[in-house]
Amino acid sequence: VAKILIYGAGAIGSLIGYLLSEGADRPLGSVENVALLGRRVHMERVRERGLKVGLPDGTRSIRFEHCFSNLEELIGSEFTPDVVLVTVRTYSLPQLREEITASGALDGGLGRAAFILLMNGMGNREAFDLPVAVYEGITSMGAVFPGPGQVELRGKGITVFEDRMPANLKAAFQERFLEKDFPVEFSSNFKVQQWGKLLVNSVVNPITALTGRCNGVVLSGSLLATVERVVEECVEVAALEGVHMERDAALDLVLSVAETTAENTSSMLKDVQRGRETEIESINGYVVRQGERHGAIVPVNEALFALVKSLHP
Ligand SMILES: NC(=O)c1ccc[n+]([C@@H]2O[C@H](COP(=O)([O-])OP(=O)(O)OC[C@H]3O[C@@H](n4cnc5c(N)ncnc54)[C@H](OP(=O)(O)O)[C@@H]3O)[C@@H](O)[C@H]2O)c1
Repeated sequence: VAKILIYGAGAIGSLIGYLLSEGADRPLGSVENVALLGRRVHMERVRERGLKVGLPDGTRSIRFEHCFSNLEELIGSEFTPDVVLVTVRTYSLPQLREEITASGALDGGLGRAAFILLMNGMGNREAFDLPVAVYEGITSMGAVFPGPGQVELRGKGITVFEDRMPANLKAAFQERFLEKDFPVEFSSNFKVQQWGKLLVNSVVNPITALTGRCNGVVLSGSLLATVERVVEECVEVAALEGVHMERDAALDLVLSVAETTAENTSSMLKDVQRGRETEIESINGYVVRQGERHGAIVPVNEALFALVKSLHP
């Protein structure tokens, strides 16, 4: 059985920790194949009372054999992961990379593990840049973190991993997701999927964060020209990166997501409302950096990026 470490057990990390756990539904047992590494208050509550997972059919309480409040605790333990699922916000990646390097953990057990970055945005592999096998994933699940020791499912959207991941891990992930009735896919066209998500996020996230309105604001007539320009710039940069997207299909995708999620508050707007740092660097920031690299001019992405940055100087 593959041993899995969830590094950054917040909303998505705690939920996926439950999804990948074996024996989570046994009434008295505790999970041994998945370890959680997260912030101290959360981990202490999980140790004391188990992780409370809010699902449509009720709340489950899951005991984990291994919970760590920092990397040192993991290193001092017997738990040697085969795979590390990194589920922090993209802006925490450089710090994570530093702490892993400084700990010397790569010379020990962690050096043999495969790392999977499961997060929004692009450019994450480059930001992580460690001498280990790194794969990526994206998820459309929705999860919230109501407080220490708890996680709540808000949507069973699909999770997509790179198809080049080791076969034994793919088989294990597939089995666990299906067993719990959650959709999962392994894509050989992962970059295309990532660009699709980046395109939607590049429009919806900054516009909602800046206007303070729900996703439906993207459909306002007064914003149509701006939305079209962001989409066109993204399509151009994607093409320079070898990913072909049709301009009209890309625009339709953005507008249809805005329509079906019209009442939702985007993660970036929530971050701004809470005075938290946003993931703008790995969304519009990525489009701007790749645009610069290829000599493409992306002024609307640049303006949205600068405006959102200025909210959290
Ligand atoms: N939540 C969703 O519904 C959802 C859906 C799709 C995609 N995503 C993406 O998934 C990623 C994770 O999002 P999330 O909502 O799960 O974020 P989150 O709730 O903030 O979870 C990340 C957790 O990792 C912790 N952390 C950061 N650095 C750490 C370190 N060095 N050691 C231990 N713990 C550390 C954070 O603590 P601090 O807060 O103290 O830094 C936080 O508790 C993001 O890229 C997000 O865009 C989320």
